[in-house]
Amino acid sequence: MAGRLDGKVAVITGGVSGIGLGSVELFVAEGARVVAADIQDEKGAMLEKRFPGKVAYAHCDVTDEAQIEAALAKAKTEFGGLDILFNNAGISDRMSSLPEVTAEGWSWIFDVLVRGPALGMKHAVPLMLARGGGSIINTASIAGLQAGWGPIAYSTAKAGVIHMSRVAAAQLSPQKIRVNAICPGLIATSIFGASLGLPREVADQMAARVAEGAAKVQPVPKAGMPEDIAQAALYLASDASAFVSGTHIVVDGGITVGSRHAWDQSAGSPFAAMFGDMMPEPS
Ligand SMILES: NC(=O)c1ccc[n+]([C@@H]2O[C@H](COP(=O)([O-])OP(=O)(O)OC[C@H]3O[C@@H](n4cnc5c(N)ncnc54)[C@H](O)[C@@H]3O)[C@@H](O)[C@H]2O)c1
Repeated sequence: MAGRLDGKVAVITGGVSGIGLGSVELFVAEGARVVAADIQDEKGAMLEKRFPGKVAYAHCDVTDEAQIEAALAKAKTEFGGLDILFNNAGISDRMSSLPEVTAEGWSWIFDVLVRGPALGMKHAVPLMLARGGGSIINTASIAGLQAGWGPIAYSTAKAGVIHMSRVAAAQLSPQKIRVNAICPGLIATSIFGASLGLPREVADQMAARVAEGAAKVQPVPKAGMPEDIAQAALYLASDASAFVSGTHIVVDGGITVGSRHAWDQSAGSPFAAMFGDMMPEPS
């Protein structure tokens, strides 16, 4: 059966762990060749060995423009061009409340989460134009839609990613380059431990802990996994989404549908708390 990404070449940042790794695996299974760009070189080398001729690893810190440019150029030198850019690398911070915010911390989060994808798009454009178009996908977050899902700099940056994707779509869609964002909900990955500054090995173990415990945090009774986001990325990367540009897809098991009491009887409705005792008995 034909793969949905047959003949396509993708660059996926943050490609050796979590959502990025799940997307590398799915994209390869669907026929793409992929440059996985990341800063975890050992995992990158292992990934290349797992998928010889299909995955190339590029050391790429997305806070460094030259490294972004080099990772994108690798798509051309290794695989002949670029059709898909998945700007997905990310980390969070511990500046949960305003008094904890530092100027350096704020700039770092914005450099990784917003400036990195912006520069990625900038350097992807000439390569995509040479192929007649392309698809850019930026990982945002439900933290960019609602308060309460991440620290303030992270959440603000992710809101920026959603809007940047719209503005970029307006500029690039006439040139047949579509741009969209994905807003994951709670996904079992290493990001929680990594954002606490724990060593990667410990952070990787925390991903398994989230996978065990996260089935009850949203209406859909299963833990969100990297593959769930990879499937959305596959749709946006493939020609199935040829008419989709400038939007964001929320993939969160329904966690943002509304207040918890809407789907969890045990959460207690505020209406029941206020006047439950005045309700007439059902007839
Ligand atoms: N896991 C979730 O619940 C969740 C929810 C919403 C959004 N996200 C977003 O999903 C994306 C992927 O995160 P994940 O959950 O798969 O976590 P992860 O930690 O498993 O993967 C993130 C990857 O990004 C890489 N990375 C970090 N800083 C980098 C840098 N400066 N340059 C290049 N690579 C860098 C890491 O090495 C890692 O491989 C992030 O943008 C994150 O903000 C995750």
